[in-house]
Amino acid sequence: MEKDIYVLGIESSCDETSVAVVKNGREVLSNIINSQIKIHELYGGVVPEIASRCHTEVINQVTKEAIKEANISFDDIDVICPTYGPGLVGALLVGVSYAKGLALATKKDLLGVNHIEGHIAANYITHKDLKPPFLCLIISGGHTHLVKVNDYTNFEILGKTRDDAIGEAFDKVARVVGLGYPGGPKVDKLAKEGKEIIDLPITDLENMDFSFSGIKTAVINLNHKNPNINKADLCLSFEKAATDMLEINIKKAIENTKIRKIVLAGGVSCNSYIRNRLDILAENNNLEMYYPEVKLCTDNAAMIASAGYYNYINGKKSDLTLNAIPNLKLGE
Ligand code: KG4
Ligand code: ZN
Repeated sequence: MEKDIYVLGIESSCDETSVAVVKNGREVLSNIINSQIKIHELYGGVVPEIASRCHTEVINQVTKEAIKEANISFDDIDVICPTYGPGLVGALLVGVSYAKGLALATKKDLLGVNHIEGHIAANYITHKDLKPPFLCLIISGGHTHLVKVNDYTNFEILGKTRDDAIGEAFDKVARVVGLGYPGGPKVDKLAKEGKEIIDLPITDLENMDFSFSGIKTAVINLNHKNPNINKADLCLSFEKAATDMLEINIKKAIENTKIRKIVLAGGVSCNSYIRNRLDILAENNNLEMYYPEVKLCTDNAAMIASAGYYNYINGKKSDLTLNAIPNLKLGE
């Protein structure tokens, strides 16, 4: 029997400090998440400088809790995997520097993980039998990517957003209609009371890229011109237009690749309207549709540890020159 591999994942790319222990890529032994949302809420969005400081304050304690909850000794850890990009540079640096110090002091292996790969890997934890190849739609606050996942560590980007990430558009819509930060879950909730009666413009680009700024700007203008407009209708109509945009490209990707297994990832993949619409799409087109469990959709270290595992067993390692790369691309 092969030896079990224990990965310590560390995530600090934005406003969550998270540390997890994951066994053999799929079994979560602990996944501690310290969210800074309450602090950034006061400012209506993430303040990078405050985010870095908060990560520094809690990272050691969060790591200790993760080891304790996993009920293992630190000696059992095989490799320490921090997110090294993409994300906020100061925030990333806290996790990367901490991981480097820990690896040096404990003589453990070190391996930097791409945050977007982490979002994809969240699905390996939720769906124990899921294996590549599949199509993955990563929809989060910072990213909107349609990717052909050829293998655990081999990705082909089919399309991405040309302007705003979809989560950014959700957060902006929430702000203009007065729902505050973080906006996605609040739009999701209010939209349930709305009607799909407002037509918003959808950009159908010739390739598989996305664009959300036209939809977002239309919402801002409508709200500005008609301050009494029904906010629930506006939220639901926004969700409808954004999901139409997603569906257009999913259909193109299926047509181009002939792959019928679709995997969602990222914070916006908890959205209930998007899930309903894609379930209907799957039903009508005979597709297999996968979503991560809600807790693993948004940023967490278990997904980072899972992605780290697949890279580690593929022979990858980082050395102590590992640095934060704020604009790291998928597949680099
Ligand atoms: O994946 P994530 O935690 O961070 C990034 O890597 O960007 O995603 C955060 C994004 C935010 O924009 C948040 O508003 C959005 O995910 N989000 C949602 C929902 N829950 C979180 N958007 C729509 N509906 C939701 N239920
Ligand atoms: Zn993320």
